Amino acid sequence: MNILDFAARKQAGEKISMATCYDYWSARILNASDLDTLLVGDSLAMVMHGFDSTVHATVDMMAMHTAAVRRGAPDKFVIGDMPFLSMRKGLQAAMDAVGALMQAGANCVKIEGVAGQADIMAHIVQSGVPVMGHLGLTPQSVEAFGGHKVQGRSQAAAAAILADARAAQDAGCFALVLECVPQQLAVQITDSLQIPTIGIGAGAGTDGQVLVLQDMLGMDAGFKPKFLRHYLQGQETVLGAVNRYHADVTTGRFPCAGEAYA
Ligand code: KIV
Repeated sequence: MNILDFAARKQAGEKISMATCYDYWSARILNASDLDTLLVGDSLAMVMHGFDSTVHATVDMMAMHTAAVRRGAPDKFVIGDMPFLSMRKGLQAAMDAVGALMQAGANCVKIEGVAGQADIMAHIVQSGVPVMGHLGLTPQSVEAFGGHKVQGRSQAAAAAILADARAAQDAGCFALVLECVPQQLAVQITDSLQIPTIGIGAGAGTDGQVLVLQDMLGMDAGFKPKFLRHYLQGQETVLGAVNRYHADVTTGRFPCAGEAYA
């Protein structure tokens, strides 16, 4: 997968698969998978660091995780997420953040929102860095939204997201994530853009899908929003394995003779 393949896949009607990846050992596994692309999302602030929102991700944090993913997944197209406010402190700060993510090994950056920053997005594109947009429920704006809620339900809100989607395309974005919007709106946006849309909680009508890896693997059995499918009972599986290990250690069944040096 490279930047040119995104448009080609949309034209050919072939869906794009994406999952988040935040660390070296998962990256090694995903590098051997069929997945098209890996997102070092700022959701790592929640999933890997235990914060209650993505607001806590910093440029240093994103660059460190991006570098780890690049080392583990040398063959994959890696997307680095621009963290909270990194686009809102002026051009210099934005370009410093872009530089940090690209030098850490990202193939492109992903940016939440368009309003008030279309010119900086265009500058990044013109600098030779591909930009993926992100609209709908943009989690960095969780405080403005009053929580992680579906966006674009009213006619006015839907029209605003559609207008932003066109603005993202005009700014030079090569693809657009649509998060938690009604599926009809996702279809309308997908049909009206030349660039591919990648949905999460946006129905089947987008040009691709993205999920948080730990969510799809069921690492938190209790986290099951409507749009999520568990492909593994990860929490149960890991807990079972760790408890079997504990039982083996405490009963003297591990290690056995063959698991020791002569
Ligand atoms: O940070 C992230 O994981 C994301 C996806 C949910 C699209 O932005």
